Amino acid sequence: MQALVLEEKGKISLRDFDITESLGPDDVRIKPVAVGICGSDVHYYREGNIGEFVVREPMILGHEASGIVLEAGENVKNLKPGDRVCMEPGIPNFKSKETLQGMYNLDPDVQFWATPPVQGCLRESFVHPAGLTFKLPDNVSFHEGALVEPLAIGVYAAKKAAISTGDNALVLGAGTIGIVTALAAEASGCANVFIADVKKEKLDFVKEHYGDKITAIDLSSETVTDTLKNAGVEQVEIVFEASGSEKAFEGITDCMTPQGTIVLIGMPNAPVPIDVVAVQVKEIELKSIFRYVNIYPRVIGMIASGKMNVLPLVTKVYDFNQSLEAFEYAATLPGNEIKIMIDTGF
Ligand SMILES: NC(=O)c1ccc[n+]([C@@H]2O[C@H](COP(=O)([O-])OP(=O)(O)OC[C@H]3O[C@@H](n4cnc5c(N)ncnc54)[C@H](O)[C@@H]3O)[C@@H](O)[C@H]2O)c1
Ligand SMILES: [Zn+2]
Repeated sequence: MQALVLEEKGKISLRDFDITESLGPDDVRIKPVAVGICGSDVHYYREGNIGEFVVREPMILGHEASGIVLEAGENVKNLKPGDRVCMEPGIPNFKSKETLQGMYNLDPDVQFWATPPVQGCLRESFVHPAGLTFKLPDNVSFHEGALVEPLAIGVYAAKKAAISTGDNALVLGAGTIGIVTALAAEASGCANVFIADVKKEKLDFVKEHYGDKITAIDLSSETVTDTLKNAGVEQVEIVFEASGSEKAFEGITDCMTPQGTIVLIGMPNAPVPIDVVAVQVKEIELKSIFRYVNIYPRVIGMIASGKMNVLPLVTKVYDFNQSLEAFEYAATLPGNEIKIMIDTGF
């Protein structure tokens, strides 16, 4: 079948890829309709690895997708051919200890699309467990369906933060993950949500599309303290670290209320020192997330109900036959672009 293949570091091709998958009784076969390009896809393309995950053989890219069910296994009750769906890209061992305890995202054997050696979804069709495939309501588009995957991280982070109505939150880093986290925090009942970055273009994007919901802080010319003060906010209850930058940890508790919560989302490339005493004297709670668990239906609900308007995040769309161009563009992404989407046309 036709597929977008990362042959090796720096080399992508659109070509026929020999792959046959049999449909199990609990599976569905799906053709992808829209696939978002993720920072990790670009990272594999440019670097050939993310930490210990190394591209050693040709790998199909893509893991943020929506699509249409082509075929359903004999035990599948919730889905039928023709259904519009989106998929969780991580398939755990359904019998593992972690899965049985409800934390399937932490199963060490999870098979995550487009993470070597697991094939991704930028191909004509794939087989997927029905239990990880979610029907899209009629008013949720395929583009929104493909955004459910990155949104799931933000919504899961907001859920982990256990936001109370009227809390104030600060998000560090205004990349895709920071923005979706800020949107989720706002929709979860925060009185004020601030987002800080060192890149002006990202903040301009936030101001243009979400200025009524989120306050942008340009760290190259503004301070967190002054911006909070101007908004009449003394301190924030919650900080979401979504930059992955060591620098973001400096003085991270300064603007926080005692007994506030930090949710660690960003993944620094190397261990980061934390001022433990500063954390202790305010009894700050440190929480973290790894991808998401049991969150897709909530994300779909937030989009369908209009509580989260995410379509502005799709800033450029390519056809499948322009995928090489799309990846080249994503690899040198200008700061004002957020999510590059591929319409497969299959
Ligand atoms: N925990 C998880 O499950 C999970 C899932 C997906 C992504 N991530 C991680 O989340 C992070 C963000 O992902 P992304 O795709 O949005 O990346 P991104 O690179 O698009 O965004 C990061 C942003 O942080 C900004 N930044 C850099 N230094 C900063 C600083 N000192 N203060 C404030 N902002 C700063 C950058 O300018 C950039 O805009 C990455 O580290 C990624 O690996 C974690
Ligand atoms: Zn992703």
